Amino acid sequence: MAVVEVKTTMSIVLVFFQMVWLMGMAVSSTAYSSAYPSDADQACDMEGGELKVVRREEYDGGRILDISHVYSEDMPVWESSDGLGHFLWLAKSMKNGSLANSSEMKLPTHTGTHVDAPGHVFQHYFEAGFDVDTLDLAVLNGPALLVDVPRDKNITAEVMKSLSIPKGVRRVLFRTLNTDRKLMWKREWDTSYVGFMKDGAQWLVENTDIKLVGVDYLSVAAYDDLIPSHLVFLESREIILVEALKLDDIKPGIYSLHCLPLRLRGAEGSPIRCILIK
Ligand SMILES: *[C@@H]1O[C@H](CO)[C@@H](O)[C@H](O)[C@H]1NC(C)=O
Ligand SMILES: *[C@@H]1O[C@H](CO)[C@@H](O)[C@H](O)[C@H]1NC(C)=O
Ligand SMILES: *[C@@H]1O[C@H](CO)[C@@H](O)[C@H](O)[C@H]1NC(C)=O
Repeated sequence: MAVVEVKTTMSIVLVFFQMVWLMGMAVSSTAYSSAYPSDADQACDMEGGELKVVRREEYDGGRILDISHVYSEDMPVWESSDGLGHFLWLAKSMKNGSLANSSEMKLPTHTGTHVDAPGHVFQHYFEAGFDVDTLDLAVLNGPALLVDVPRDKNITAEVMKSLSIPKGVRRVLFRTLNTDRKLMWKREWDTSYVGFMKDGAQWLVENTDIKLVGVDYLSVAAYDDLIPSHLVFLESREIILVEALKLDDIKPGIYSLHCLPLRLRGAEGSPIRCILIK
């Protein structure tokens, strides 16, 4: 999430070098251009001589589940009712004589499925360099529990207690009313999302071994306790917050979680790709 007070939201520009696989043979120029459809992220299948995109939420017969959201112009962003908007464009195109198609993008680091580093809400941590490149990959990867949170409350100490998460569990993905409300599919940013209240965050820190907290909207903290909850989680620099996960249609239980942020030195947030493996 991007915080009002902490206007350190950084924009990044990344250049994609699109690899075009020619399947080892010469391909006509029409087939060649359709190999790069307007949306990225695809697998290609030949069907009746036509290149056809196959998009997936899971792989290998459901063994690997993608829990990251697709980046789209219509996805919600912090404090905006207009959504992300135009963020990806073709800077160099073969049609215009370049050797390859090459896109550029610009987006706040706290967009879509993303991770927060301690520098997000602590100025002294930011200045000391606790950016996303310092986050522990051993915490971001390992066994994780997906739990359903009661739908009628924010995550308070009482709710945390009622979940009875056993000691020893180090990574928990909290599925809430946000998933039922499909909030990540709505362009308009919504402050009524469910998140941690300060006492819920405090309870988690004091009574569990959880070091990775995953949630299903743009902030782990309920809007009413936005900064207090973040402070409680990030103070020790031991807990990693992964936000805006796509947890629809996944059975509660234990999975192997794999999350990889980008190595953005100096950035207090990063887009992150997370998958669950059964
Ligand atoms: C490159 O990408 C653009 C935009 O998708 C497309 O129009 C074009 O056909 C692609 N390929 C070539 C060879 O230009
Ligand atoms: C290609 O060049 C034309 C003419 O300069 C320009 O209008 C168009 O936007 C360019 N397209 C891309 C994909 O760069
Ligand atoms: C959670 O808190 C937000 C304010 O931060 C509030 O708008 C929302 O109604 C609460 N949700 C539930 C289910 O109590």
